[in-house]
Amino acid sequence: MKARKIKEDIYWMGSVDWDRRLFDALVPLPDGTSYNAYLIKGSEKTALIDTVDPPMAKEFMGQLKGVKNIDYIISSHAEQDHSGTIMQVLEKYPNAKLISTPKAKDLLKDLLNIPENFFVSIEDGETLSLGDKTLKFIFTPWVHWPETMVTFLEEDKILFSCDFFGSHIASSDLFVTDQGRVYEAAKRYFAEIMMPFRSIIKKNMEKLAPYDIKMIAPGHGQIFPDAGFILDAYKKWTEGAPRNTVVIPYVSMHESTRLMVEHLVGALVDKGVRVEQFNLAVTDIGKLAMALVDAATIVVGTPTILAGPHPYAAYAAFLANALRPNTKFLSVVGSYGWGGKTVDTLAGMIPNLKVEVIDPVLCKGVPTASVFNALDDLAGAIARKHKENDYR
Ligand code: FEO
Repeated sequence: MKARKIKEDIYWMGSVDWDRRLFDALVPLPDGTSYNAYLIKGSEKTALIDTVDPPMAKEFMGQLKGVKNIDYIISSHAEQDHSGTIMQVLEKYPNAKLISTPKAKDLLKDLLNIPENFFVSIEDGETLSLGDKTLKFIFTPWVHWPETMVTFLEEDKILFSCDFFGSHIASSDLFVTDQGRVYEAAKRYFAEIMMPFRSIIKKNMEKLAPYDIKMIAPGHGQIFPDAGFILDAYKKWTEGAPRNTVVIPYVSMHESTRLMVEHLVGALVDKGVRVEQFNLAVTDIGKLAMALVDAATIVVGTPTILAGPHPYAAYAAFLANALRPNTKFLSVVGSYGWGGKTVDTLAGMIPNLKVEVIDPVLCKGVPTASVFNALDDLAGAIARKHKENDYR
């Protein structure tokens, strides 16, 4: 793909990665992704914001063939999917200066062996004139590494946000055309990458509030011609109250836990509680992460195996603990054969979750009428808690 014009003297560059299905050997990418770089030609100077993942370097360097000079390379984030081709760009434009936060400078030196002489460290809020265009650098730490920053192009009111406000989508459409699709992808991205930093992201959002941002050009996915769309979504995900939803990640070996989960789901729905049910043996972990963004309650369904939770359930608990959702209540249901410490083990795996634990329902063997009654009581307790807190 060639460079594409966004506005006069502002170009998208980069690469659409249609085939990538996994990021960091962990995060599922059902829709592929893109690595976006941006070229800004001022009346006096030219700046390039970020680069691409190294496997895409050939396409990217081809886009730079007609670009005679680059004065500044802006590195928003040191992770290699944005910084990995900086050295090749510096080799082509040896007089270019590499602009970064001081923290990014340290990381870029460690990760990419970029020589000291290329760097110019900037301060938070510093501006850089390209002649008729002005770049303002705003430090936005922990989206999602400690060194991250965004760049505001003052005259055109465009925010270049790198990972912040990104989404993993491969598309030939440069701008958002299908808001529903992008909302889902951006929420998935927030859940998998940004959610652990929810409170600091809220502060970063407050920091951006005074700026008249019209357009957001992220490092992954499509450009938002209406910045308000994604800013509103982030506000909701970072500040909104949990919803009247129970997320049930579960696994079942001999159907007893499944029977319990299915009964609980029916009881919750009867009481007006929304449910998202995930069979961990086959589920897309990204979908589970997305459901955790605004669910008030998690109920883990697991059989007992080797005296503890099934490894899939342990993985779900570990993931939830790492992602730090805003969940308020937690319980466990499941079947066991002859004993074990399933609940204690799971409870010990979620120290980051500030949840109230609602009495679990465990049953020996196949669930009986009294077990189903206990599940009805659990559904009632959850519905009451949600109502008391006005979760909708
Ligand atoms: Fe898109 Fe944190 O890299």
